[in-house]
Amino acid sequence: MNALTKGISPFYPGQPVPAELFVGRQAEIDKIARAVRQVELGKPQAIFLSGEYGIGKSSLAGFMRFYAEKENHLLGIHVLLGSATTIEDVAVKTVEAVLRAPAYEPTLIEKARNVLSKYVGKQELFGIQINLEALKADSPNISAGYLPFLQQLLERFRDEGIKGIMLILDEINGITSNPKFAHFVKGLVDENALSATPLPLLLMLSGVEERRREMIQHHQPVERIFDIVEINPMTDSEMRDFFDKAFRSQNIEVKPDAMSLLCHYSAGFPKIMHTVGDVTFWIDQDGIIDKDDAFKGILLAAEDIGRKFVDQQVLRALRSADYHSILNKMSKLLFDLSFQKTDLEKGLSDSEKKKCNNFLQKMKKLKVLSSGDIQGEYIFNSRLVRLYILLNSIKKDASQ
Ligand SMILES: Nc1ncnc2c1ncn2[C@@H]1O[C@H](COP(=O)(O)OP(=O)(O)OP(=O)(O)O)[C@@H](O)[C@H]1O
Ligand SMILES: [Mg+2]
Repeated sequence: MNALTKGISPFYPGQPVPAELFVGRQAEIDKIARAVRQVELGKPQAIFLSGEYGIGKSSLAGFMRFYAEKENHLLGIHVLLGSATTIEDVAVKTVEAVLRAPAYEPTLIEKARNVLSKYVGKQELFGIQINLEALKADSPNISAGYLPFLQQLLERFRDEGIKGIMLILDEINGITSNPKFAHFVKGLVDENALSATPLPLLLMLSGVEERRREMIQHHQPVERIFDIVEINPMTDSEMRDFFDKAFRSQNIEVKPDAMSLLCHYSAGFPKIMHTVGDVTFWIDQDGIIDKDDAFKGILLAAEDIGRKFVDQQVLRALRSADYHSILNKMSKLLFDLSFQKTDLEKGLSDSEKKKCNNFLQKMKKLKVLSSGDIQGEYIFNSRLVRLYILLNSIKKDASQ
């Protein structure tokens, strides 16, 4: 089977996973499904979907949106706030999300375009043009009257059998630094709770825990509004299930020892599972992933992640020669994912020792390491990053 005769790669590195390849997360799904049901019955809910970068927040949010539309007749609005920095931007992106996002029911898309026709530009063959000028002109009004805007939206959708709204505010990294956003979110929840007929609204924010903390710093009461749903690394059986499903969808078999390798190096991170899976998919020549294919895939994936993340972000941030030398020595200590600071210090020169603390703090800030449970213990967040740094330092030694 060469590249030309291969089917579609069932892996989506960097994109939310399609529903048919979504695996695991049952406890989180149950918890969100309960909230969705409450909203369908008329009771507003607020959830903060929390988890590390690439752990699967957007995918789970998207999956639950699909579920809420299909099972509980909510209108799903998945807003990617990305570049938004003001509340007006939030308003613009919300309207865009209603108009652009594919809904479970095609009739809903049509309805949305009718209801918000003011902001629809000329129709294109594929997708939709948005009249950004009109939308931007209205954005101060929409943001100041955000709840009434949502209420009116729902009223117009009632005749489609829609019972409430699931509003997902995703990619909040940029907006949370604006103190107004915390006030805006808290205001939205309070205003709704106090209104005579509260809008059945499931408000879901999705982001890393630091973003929630940042909002609380700007406005303390934000601490009390959310039920937190935390997404953790996948278990071994969830990972197996994923690789199994994905490869099987293309009639590819995975040998048990290859499966163990893929899972070991992915270490529960769905983003890495997709990267490793994709590379391995293209390496395979005979429809059977054996240990050799898996290992080649892992090395290539480590190169890929290393070049993007380690070279671009980590090595650039570590400017001094001492830091680079500490990194080298650290990578060659014998450990899997976690090591003791004292073991690292043993091999350092005096001047390196002085910089060791700073080095470790930097590595934590760069999200390469985390603190372990034991005092002085540090853990690599990704096994592939660990592998890349090790391979790099071996290469460096060989070329010296
Ligand atoms: N339950 C799942 N089953 C299979 N693949 C998944 C699952 N969840 C996430 N993924 C995959 O993992 C990768 C990261 O997922 P996603 O973008 O949803 O994470 P995220 O937490 O939103 O990331 P970011 O912090 O970058 O926004 C994507 O390639 C996605 O397809
Ligand atoms: Mg995301």
